[in-house]
Amino acid sequence: MHRKDIISMIDITAADVWKIFKLTDSIIQKRMSMEDYTPLKGKSVALIFQKPSTRTRVSFEVGIGQLGGQPIYLSPEEVGLGVRESIPDVARVLSRYTSAIVARTFSHKDMEILAKFATVPVISGLSDSFHPCQILADIYTIWKHKGSVVDVTLAYIGDGSNNVAHSLIVGCAIMGMNISIATPLDYSPNQSILEKARDIALKTGSRIEIFSQPSQAALGADVLYTDVWTSMGQEKEAEDRRKVFKNYQINNALIEIANKDCLIMHCLPAHRGEEITNDAIEGPNSIVFEQAENRLHVQKGILVFLMC
Ligand code: CP
Ligand code: NVA
Repeated sequence: MHRKDIISMIDITAADVWKIFKLTDSIIQKRMSMEDYTPLKGKSVALIFQKPSTRTRVSFEVGIGQLGGQPIYLSPEEVGLGVRESIPDVARVLSRYTSAIVARTFSHKDMEILAKFATVPVISGLSDSFHPCQILADIYTIWKHKGSVVDVTLAYIGDGSNNVAHSLIVGCAIMGMNISIATPLDYSPNQSILEKARDIALKTGSRIEIFSQPSQAALGADVLYTDVWTSMGQEKEAEDRRKVFKNYQINNALIEIANKDCLIMHCLPAHRGEEITNDAIEGPNSIVFEQAENRLHVQKGILVFLMC
């Protein structure tokens, strides 16, 4: 089998995404009809986490188990990535024991080193630059609701320079979905990632727009999406960020500007009263928990796509 990693959105094609979505649908179907489906039987998957996680860790552990495989979680303290042991050594040792590695790292460079030295597939469970599993599950969720991904406009409100924003920009470009980002100028997306996304968008017809005001992005949006103002690792900036982002919030006024029946999405964890109001996240258009559930389903599709 040709090894393939999923560590950023840039290395994924639309054809791969559709294959993962088809696998996801068929795995859901098999589970509903109680079919015995254990393609990972006899295989182990290492989960190396440098940062905390609820969704990513649990959905991978549960998903690997449901597919008949064995998940092995290594906490930040245990693995000491690059501290207790060099990343190339960790990658090569784990490749001798396991059939895939799921990793959550601070620096994306570390993720790339891990993938370079591992001889088994490496799946990103988030780095400072990308969160591909999140965005694949998000696009799958939107597809299920809208029946299509083209002619859908997603408005992302908040930190345009974080992992979720970057992955959404590239993911939407790949899939031909339109994306409008509302972010303060100093938190604009990384220029090189944006350029790559714009190149892809030229071929797929996706429209990418960057605005400074949430209302500009929300106008004509079919999906309103937000993420925390302060990502993991940026805790020291939290107070400043609360000031800078105070108007970058999904609330009822913003929902009024968006298209009727606009979906409300958030990767979670959410800070109610900051990037999203309680009313918005608990409102009738919110699909945040379905979005979270789909992490489990889509990641099983990813595991089968890469490992079987
Ligand atoms: N959305 C997400 O990745 O959540 P966790 O940080 O809890 O894994
Ligand atoms: N941008 C957030 C996403 C959490 C899933 C962070 O990196 O903390």
